[in-house]
Amino acid sequence: MIDAVLSANGTGKGQLLPILHAVQAEFGCIDAASEGTIANALNLSRAEVHGVVSFYHDFKPEADPRPELQLCRAEACQARGVEALVPTAEAACGNRVKLGIVYCLGLCSAGPCARVGDKLHARLDENALVALVNGI
Ligand code: FES
Repeated sequence: MIDAVLSANGTGKGQLLPILHAVQAEFGCIDAASEGTIANALNLSRAEVHGVVSFYHDFKPEADPRPELQLCRAEACQARGVEALVPTAEAACGNRVKLGIVYCLGLCSAGPCARVGDKLHARLDENALVALVNGI
């Protein structure tokens, strides 16, 4: 329940982003009803909450039940060959795994990098990437 998230995070000034992250993590999305509940709790308009939700790519309006591979396509990983891995990633993921694109995972010197859940994977090549996707 969103009420539990609101209770755990409080409804003071500056709590919007922590609440949105908690709702996204708990429910896999922040839908319109959740935006309204959060707006009421924080004394904001729903438009203000929706503006923040729609600005950040991490917040999803609908839950996607598929597991996700996040592939870094920022500059350092590009310099280390991630663009050549994109077709392999797309083929390996197919429709079973969501292929998300992120811009820097903080392992720039060990790229190309990807994240599955909370786990980071570095120095990916085609074989490692396919094995990673098959293991999801
Ligand atoms: S650029 Fe890919 S991890 Fe930083």
